[in-house]
Amino acid sequence: MVMQQDALKAQQDEKKLQENLSRIKNKLIVLSGKGGVGKSTVAVNLAVNLSLKGYKTGLLDVDIHGPSVPTMLGLENHKLGNDGEKIMPVKFNENMKAISIGFMLEKPEDAVIWRGPLKYNAIKQFASDVNWGELDYLIVDSPPGTGDEPLSVCQIIKPDAAIVVTTPQDVALTDVRKSITFCNHVNIPIRGVIENMSGFTCPHCGKTVDIFKKGGGERISREMNVPFLGSIPIEIDIMEKGDSGNPFMNNHRGESESVKAFEKIISKITK
Ligand SMILES: Nc1ncnc2c1ncn2[C@@H]1O[C@H](COP(=O)(O)OP(=O)(O)OP(=O)(O)O)[C@@H](O)[C@H]1O
Ligand SMILES: [Mg+2]
Repeated sequence: MVMQQDALKAQQDEKKLQENLSRIKNKLIVLSGKGGVGKSTVAVNLAVNLSLKGYKTGLLDVDIHGPSVPTMLGLENHKLGNDGEKIMPVKFNENMKAISIGFMLEKPEDAVIWRGPLKYNAIKQFASDVNWGELDYLIVDSPPGTGDEPLSVCQIIKPDAAIVVTTPQDVALTDVRKSITFCNHVNIPIRGVIENMSGFTCPHCGKTVDIFKKGGGERISREMNVPFLGSIPIEIDIMEKGDSGNPFMNNHRGESESVKAFEKIISKITK
């Protein structure tokens, strides 16, 4: 009897999950082998820019231990509500809403100390118990590597494609291969690789310095036979806007190299 009830509950949960996911047209996961290469920056700015282009967009932050989305969107003090049935994501603008464990913490400095199964369950709730509504895009920001969080996303949400972010130097590139192998393993097609922090042009003297080298992301893409989406330079504005909660692709005026590069990347993603 208990087993029958369990099976029924599992069936109902699966139905709820599939109903929620069926209302999302494109699900993209942003991954990287290494930490700190700019996944959250890419995920946040991609989501914001898609929403400004008129796409209904959701941003799901599955970085349980180090969520950056609330800060990068300037929504640190926002908490999740509910509509009596489902969790309501936090609204960034008319077309964009976001979910992050950061919206559930009492204080931003609180640490979440969870093992794999708890993270799996949290991600399942984010996918099935959140009122995402109809979405053109769901962008998923993950922590670095190929651990519990991206694996759970791949099992539960089954993204249509992955965007792999790297920096150009060899230590980061070794780990990019792992991200690509991971995607092949879980059958997630790779939309492409982005090389972030690719060169820095001094705003004072105009000289360009390749702080982390250049071209490694494109080389790896060729070697591993996956598309290359483009390079984004290091710009102080990207970091400052990330810190201040006003993403650099939000109502930009289109003048900087990074904005132009990111626009090109987005046009390849939406094509
Ligand atoms: N192109 C860039 N130019 C300047 N600063 C950048 C650039 N890309 C990212 N940053 C900055 O680098 C820092 C790390 O970026 P971000 O948090 O997006 O990386 P991440 O890969 O998500 O890190 P984690 O692995 O911890 O999740 C942030 O302060 C961000 O603002
Ligand atoms: Mg991050």
